[in-house]
Amino acid sequence: MTTFRTRDGREFLPLGLQTHNSSTGVPEMLDREIAAVKHYGGNLLEAPIYWYRIEAEQGVFNFDDLDDLIRRCRENGLHLIPLWFGINKNGHPNYAPEWMKLHPETYAIAQGRDGGRVASMSPLCQATLDADRRAFTTLMEHLRQVDGEIGTVIAVQIENEIGLANTDMDYRPEAQAIYHQGVPTVLDGVTLEDSGVTPAGNTWRSRFGRHAHEAFMAWAHADFIEQMAVAGKQVYDLPMMINVMLGEQGYEEAGLCYNSGAAVGRVLDIYKAVAPHVDLICPDMYVPDRERYRRVCGRYARGDNPLFIPESPITGVANAMNMMEAFADYGCIGMACFGAGHVMDMQGNPLPESMDMALSMRTVANVAPLLLKYRGTGRVHALVQQEFMDKQYLRLEGWHVEAKFISAAPSRWGMGSFLNTAAPENADIFTARGRGLLIQTGENEFYLAGCGVKVDFRRRPDPLEEDNYPLLASRQCGTLNFLSVEEGHFEGDSWVCDRVRNGDESNFELFSHRGQVVRIRLNPN
Ligand code: DGJ
Repeated sequence: MTTFRTRDGREFLPLGLQTHNSSTGVPEMLDREIAAVKHYGGNLLEAPIYWYRIEAEQGVFNFDDLDDLIRRCRENGLHLIPLWFGINKNGHPNYAPEWMKLHPETYAIAQGRDGGRVASMSPLCQATLDADRRAFTTLMEHLRQVDGEIGTVIAVQIENEIGLANTDMDYRPEAQAIYHQGVPTVLDGVTLEDSGVTPAGNTWRSRFGRHAHEAFMAWAHADFIEQMAVAGKQVYDLPMMINVMLGEQGYEEAGLCYNSGAAVGRVLDIYKAVAPHVDLICPDMYVPDRERYRRVCGRYARGDNPLFIPESPITGVANAMNMMEAFADYGCIGMACFGAGHVMDMQGNPLPESMDMALSMRTVANVAPLLLKYRGTGRVHALVQQEFMDKQYLRLEGWHVEAKFISAAPSRWGMGSFLNTAAPENADIFTARGRGLLIQTGENEFYLAGCGVKVDFRRRPDPLEEDNYPLLASRQCGTLNFLSVEEGHFEGDSWVCDRVRNGDESNFELFSHRGQVVRIRLNPN
């Protein structure tokens, strides 16, 4: 898959929130969390379903929680991604049924270097795979029956932030025997960066050097997930995804900085080789600093893995800013923030700390059809007010674009628009960090959506024109020379103009301060 599609084949951009871990089956929590999705302008709910509740007694299944989630999403016009909390939730088996947890002699717990059990179940245990896979395929069969025609559920996440906690590999004798069999042929040609060896031979050490143990556990987890995905798709062919506890943390050593065997950036090629039925390998983006955020996006946004962000902070300015670059520069195909209940008070009203992210998500939602259409073309530009910035310059083929940020360059005129606002009530839009998206849809046509930004265009000299300077210097060359400036919204893929801006609302700068979408047609003459 490249992008998400509805049952009738229309592309759409899933945006929304993930519930807290323990909300499923609790109506009071879910009501608040769905209200939060709406406050964020979202169309997506992600929610866990718990294996221990689905199969409390071995072989007896109960899908009430899932049915309830589907019904709630339908009633509220939302899509749903159920998260299969099976044997591994952040490296822990806490969502596995008791009949499994009580029998580690059958369902193996991984061992650490010292021979003691670690927190995680081993993916190298056939009985565990058989049980998890049986439950998962029963779930997929149920989904096919209850949702096959309508398609409220758009994808399923298998497990949650998998990997082994507290060890770099499973040191059980059974696992070690597999390790000593050498590297399976499915990994022929796969190498890892910074392994310290020139790959040769067939042992994990000779092929992957200092990352040998991590590579082995990545292969083991990827193989486990692949077998789950294959079996699940056989009964109901839905997109399958996994989410990842990032490896781009600290000194980046598996089992210490993150769960070993997780699909971290370093071992993505292993996962892609071993688990082709997993459509999306998704980074959980709890990354405030821009440089690391971009590094992670750059690793996961690949031709064989469109970037989908299933978890990210639900509050704070950092995510509200960085996400613009995920959509503009990395073709992000959807995004959710974690902890929906967290941003609503006990009466179900949004808390002030939700405003930054809610406004950014609504802004993105407002231009979703354009983001899908121009994804990967280089025509989607992020405007982001990094620290100390008052302006941002974009050099485009035919135009110089200067974006100014309203918090650093307040406008006295031209801000008179409260139509089409995406700003949640009380959002402090005049002091907020400016951010937005500028999308070039024609040689001289742009759409702007943002918060606290204004743009000014100046035609760039034509390389073949003898005397560019008079035109470049003339007022005629700048923003004032537009054909039309419209404020509006999209209905499906069609633009609907709600108001034409002119005079004070367009002559000084072309602004979007509350998430509005503005269509700008410039006059190149
Ligand atoms: C990442 C996990 O995937 C989520 O389930 C949740 O535990 C968050 N962390 C919040 O801590």
